[in-house]
Amino acid sequence: MDTIIVKVNDVKKDYNYIEQAGNIIKAGGLVGFPTETVYGLGADALNEEAAAKIYAAKGRPSDNPLIAHISNISMLDSLVTEIPPKAKVLMDKFWPGPMTLIFNKSEVVPKGTTGGLDTVAVRMPDNEIARGLIEAAGTPIAAPSGNLSGKPSPTIAEHMIDDMDGRIDMIIDGGMVGMGLESTIVDMTCEPPMILRPGFITKEMLDEVIGEVEYDKAIFAKPDENLKPKAPGMKYRHYAPSGDFSMYDGDEKKVVSAIVEAATSKLKEGKSVGVITTYQHYDYFKEIEQLGAQVITIGDESRLETIANNLYKVLRDFDKKGTEFIYGETFREDDLGKAIMNRLTKAAGYNIISV
Ligand code: TXA
Ligand code: MG
Repeated sequence: MDTIIVKVNDVKKDYNYIEQAGNIIKAGGLVGFPTETVYGLGADALNEEAAAKIYAAKGRPSDNPLIAHISNISMLDSLVTEIPPKAKVLMDKFWPGPMTLIFNKSEVVPKGTTGGLDTVAVRMPDNEIARGLIEAAGTPIAAPSGNLSGKPSPTIAEHMIDDMDGRIDMIIDGGMVGMGLESTIVDMTCEPPMILRPGFITKEMLDEVIGEVEYDKAIFAKPDENLKPKAPGMKYRHYAPSGDFSMYDGDEKKVVSAIVEAATSKLKEGKSVGVITTYQHYDYFKEIEQLGAQVITIGDESRLETIANNLYKVLRDFDKKGTEFIYGETFREDDLGKAIMNRLTKAAGYNIISV
């Protein structure tokens, strides 16, 4: 199929495109659109056949449920059997925003959207194009990240076009997303509530408003038959670049010399080598850059949001260059660092070397 690609700078001025996209969703089609976290691949959340098209376009396993995106609170009522009081508090505080909540689903939500589960994930995005599209469609929009299954999530429209051109009806280019990592997922059907995927809304932020929440322990562990993550999507190797990616952890000087040594030996074998570093550490890698390594600065170590913002783009850039071996440093795991290390650890296939 031919994919319509449009650029929307201003929701009001470009409303005709939003309306066109809304009509595609109403008719059971697929639209790629920006949110504040990553680009999503949307379809009518209440139409099982439309949801099935998402799985086909992404090559996504059918047991992996979708997030229903809403544009106002009244849309939530029909999707869920009840709204627990703590969920209400979180919604007031963090919606619209990068937080997805899990509720018990009502009859209205087809199991084709929830991967067969009796629960439904819901999020109100903080992006005008996304909310305008939901309004125009007049229905909650089921939207996973807009990448092919297994690829890093798209943070610019070009990534969506790379993965989805010819596979979906329309892509709305709304520029670069603000955050670059997927939403925090919190299961509100258990007590205490449980974080199923870390993101910009951190555990500390949640604890502060509703008291202690806990992490699903499986999200920081290696995949294991006995410890399955509650969010089915978290069990897959995800976010992965095509090259062989390893991360080094430990004392800064030792990490740098281990990366330089590994990179140099691969360069000598004639392999293509990439290094992911920070503004603070870039100078350490100038020499191997001169030897031919592609050294990419991912952001500012003291501002983790800059690293979150560039993470998927950096991984995709190495894919485009066909880089065979990629080396990176680990980051501190406080606040947003937990979400960053969760994604990087998976991208590296749990290949973290302590030095
Ligand atoms: O920021 C985001 O959340 C982005 C944008 C587009 O909104 N969406 C996104 O969707 O990351 P996706 O499909 O790539 O990730 C959704 C995750 C998966 O790991 C899935 O297993 C989990 O949410 N999930 C969805 N519904 C669930 C449910 N009812 N119970 C447990 N986990 C659920
Ligand atoms: Mg995804």
